[in-house]
Amino acid sequence: MLGSVITENPVNSGSLVLLFLAGVSVATKQNLITDLVRIWGSFCRSIGTFISTVEHLLRGADAIDRAYRKSNGNLFQMPTPGRTHHMVTSPEHLEDLNKAPLDVLSLHAVAKDFLRPKDTMHGFEWKDVRGVEGTGFVRALRTILTGQLPELLPSLAQVVDKQVSAEIGSHRVDADGSIVPLYDMCKRLVTKVNCTVFFGPKMAENAEFFEAAYKFPHDSAYAAEFIRLLPQGIGSFVARCFTGNFKSSATLHRLLSAEVRKRLDARDGGRFEGEQQNDGLQWLIDTAPKKENWGVDRLVGEVMGVWYGSVHTLSIAVTFALLDLYSRPEYVAPLRSEVLGTSLAAFTDAKNLPFLDSFLSESARLSAFESTGVRRQALRTFTFRDGHSISRGDWICVPHRSMMRDNDYFADALTFDGARFMRDTGRSGRETYMADASSKWMIWGVGRILCPGRFYATLVLKLVLARFLVDYDCEVVSFRGSRSMQWRSTIVPKQNIKLRARKADSDSL
Ligand code: HEM
Repeated sequence: MLGSVITENPVNSGSLVLLFLAGVSVATKQNLITDLVRIWGSFCRSIGTFISTVEHLLRGADAIDRAYRKSNGNLFQMPTPGRTHHMVTSPEHLEDLNKAPLDVLSLHAVAKDFLRPKDTMHGFEWKDVRGVEGTGFVRALRTILTGQLPELLPSLAQVVDKQVSAEIGSHRVDADGSIVPLYDMCKRLVTKVNCTVFFGPKMAENAEFFEAAYKFPHDSAYAAEFIRLLPQGIGSFVARCFTGNFKSSATLHRLLSAEVRKRLDARDGGRFEGEQQNDGLQWLIDTAPKKENWGVDRLVGEVMGVWYGSVHTLSIAVTFALLDLYSRPEYVAPLRSEVLGTSLAAFTDAKNLPFLDSFLSESARLSAFESTGVRRQALRTFTFRDGHSISRGDWICVPHRSMMRDNDYFADALTFDGARFMRDTGRSGRETYMADASSKWMIWGVGRILCPGRFYATLVLKLVLARFLVDYDCEVVSFRGSRSMQWRSTIVPKQNIKLRARKADSDSL
């Protein structure tokens, strides 16, 4: 009866309730209406925050893009589960971020939050402050790997060639060619190439090691999400079930530990088995800070951390580059002709492949898979010069994907133009190339923290595209819906996208 009165006269009933509450407030000298309004307000705010955080999980890149467009270049905030992300784009904010002491704004704390190394990497605990005990792999990658690229080039090209042909050969063939799951193929390809460079050809050929190295980034990404999102205990339990008790991590850790132990023993005993190894693992051992005396666990932890980042980022970049290429077949012939006219030895110099370099830059610009390439966690309260304060635990991010889609930074920004960087438009014409880093080209980070693997990553991208261009004719098998899905601020290619590939009738590279 009361129910039907309220349903039929909601306004009158609401007014009566308010009057009644006002009466009770006066009678009891308590401000029930104010309390009610306050509770209702905080309930609405909680619902609003809940909706925003769920949106951040499922469509984070879109949400950041929308907020970026409304922000007019000002700092804006994105609520995420557990913390707020403060998005900055202005030169002043970027300068403050870059100049902040390493023990105030931390990249490692961000990596620890989304990797949960204590659980997913066999108990490894990164220091929050980067560089406090040396920068681990950074020197080995930036200086030694980059310096050795010309020497490594023939073997890298060979591994790419062999693995691409193995992947294409191992899939279902119809009348028009092999049907290959694109993202998975790229993950296996990048795993193989990175394994060879990081651990040498012998370990790359070890099937147990390869399988663990291939599965580890995927397993740890999911496990870390369960641990982050679910209540303590439940998250770890689900992560254990999902990853078969962290099997890939445990296998990788066991096999790497044995290899590192062998190499440390050989070094300390002054003997080397045959020739001394020349791979990432050895460079890390050789450049580890002497006074810190890193043991096996520390070295293996460093390797596993970089392994996750290097495979995950590069596989997605290669997938989107191939998808961009075969979604726009008009680029195939001119790119193929540039590649065929260039010797392999000339690949390390971007000037020798201007069109391919431009095409890959355009793919990196419009198909950027991370909305916020630069992220720092505040270890203490941090205040920008304009007075904006960041609380401890919150993140500062640069929404560089949205910036790269903004007409203020790139002319006709939403149009894919594979030759864009060959002309004097967008980024400053041909002064810079894909692997260069600057405040106008932030795909590798900004300021003093830049991706040390950028020259290697760019070379691998070129080698893979060149191999496909020269040896195969491909098309994307038609699919329904979008080509990617979003999770937090990342855009990941969909697993079900397939490439149809058949041997091309052209000269080999
Ligand atoms: C296309 C692929 C890649 C992209 C787009 C990329 C991008 C980035 C970005 C934006 C950063 C800076 C993050 C920040 O400041 O918050 C970074 C850091 C880093 N990247 Fe990459 N990366 C890629 C591939 C690689 C590869 C293949 C390796 C290893 C061989 C690598 C190793 C690293 C390391 C070790 C850091 C941390 C640097 C430091 O602490 O100073 N990356 N990367």
